[in-house]
Amino acid sequence: MSELTDARILAIESSCDETAAAVIENGRHLLSSVVASQMEIHARYGGVYPEVASRQHVLSIGPVVEQALTQAHLSLAEVDAIAVTRGPGLAGSLVVGLNAAKGLAIGAGKPLIGVNHLEGHIYSSWVYADSGHKSDIPAAPQFPLLALLVSGGHTELNLMTGHLTYRRLGATLDDAAGEAFDKTARLLGLPYPGGPSVQSAAETGNPFAFRFPRARTDGAWDFSFSGIKTAVLREVRRMQANGVAIPVADMAASFQAAIVDTLLAKTLAAAREFGVSEILVAGGVSANKALRAAFMNQAEFKVNIPKFAFCTDNAAMIASAGYFRYTQGDRSALDMDVMPTWPLSS
Ligand code: KG4
Ligand code: ZN
Repeated sequence: MSELTDARILAIESSCDETAAAVIENGRHLLSSVVASQMEIHARYGGVYPEVASRQHVLSIGPVVEQALTQAHLSLAEVDAIAVTRGPGLAGSLVVGLNAAKGLAIGAGKPLIGVNHLEGHIYSSWVYADSGHKSDIPAAPQFPLLALLVSGGHTELNLMTGHLTYRRLGATLDDAAGEAFDKTARLLGLPYPGGPSVQSAAETGNPFAFRFPRARTDGAWDFSFSGIKTAVLREVRRMQANGVAIPVADMAASFQAAIVDTLLAKTLAAAREFGVSEILVAGGVSANKALRAAFMNQAEFKVNIPKFAFCTDNAAMIASAGYFRYTQGDRSALDMDVMPTWPLSS
């Protein structure tokens, strides 16, 4: 057992289509991170096939956990607690990770900590991999901060005044940002997963070719992306009716620009309004190069964006969030159930 602040957390993540395990020390220092992706399997279906995802987790979970411990040069006895994603996500996928975590906790006599996947995404900004130089350790995010969460199923703005506290200022009224990327990719005939394929198509496109709407939800901190998606659909239909070839790169670039502008403008406005000095961007869409560039190119606020590897689903982020819960004395019972729907705050 280590000192509380040096605690080592073994975490498991299986909320969607990645089976992941990681070990983290002191909430930030990554000792190992293993992700077994099912992307190629689901690409055949054009999206995540829940039944296939849970069966795949069953195959991967044991080897992935074993590999995470091996890479960290630790035995199960040497970790202090087991953290696991409890939700939100696909029930059949969550169950596999949760039961594996319970087995490890019972077998090794370690505390079990259920973690919200969205909280995990936020904590990915605390994670760093050791370069061997102390001077390379990035500064931890400082409170109060404004967290923009942009994933496949969620888009929301949360004000954090301290660890593990969230005040939701606004959220999407319709599609999540990642969902808009995925749906638009399908409309443009681009392959699954949609986000990365829209991004690469956009690289050779002109972001000013089409002026897609920047939805303004005035007076509120909510977002709306269905208008942008509908505008793309209308344009595609119009061109198809006229027998015009669809300029996929220009449409992808113009769509991406509309999403990025909307996310940046609202986040900056909220950051000013609530007087924070730092912004945090998290979730799968934070892997988007145009979004990262837009946030990094403004000088008003310090921006925390996770390293690319920790933007999409992984267990390092669950280990970090699990660490802060562990040090606050949070423990889950062995009869803990999964929570397929679980808001971060209400
Ligand atoms: O956080 P995540 O891995 O899973 C959820 O918790 O939902 O996010 C997945 C979402 C998908 O919608 C995917 O298309 C999007 O993140 N995404 C991206 C990029 N990489 C992943 N969206 C835009 N650009 C990317 N490079
Ligand atoms: Zn996620």
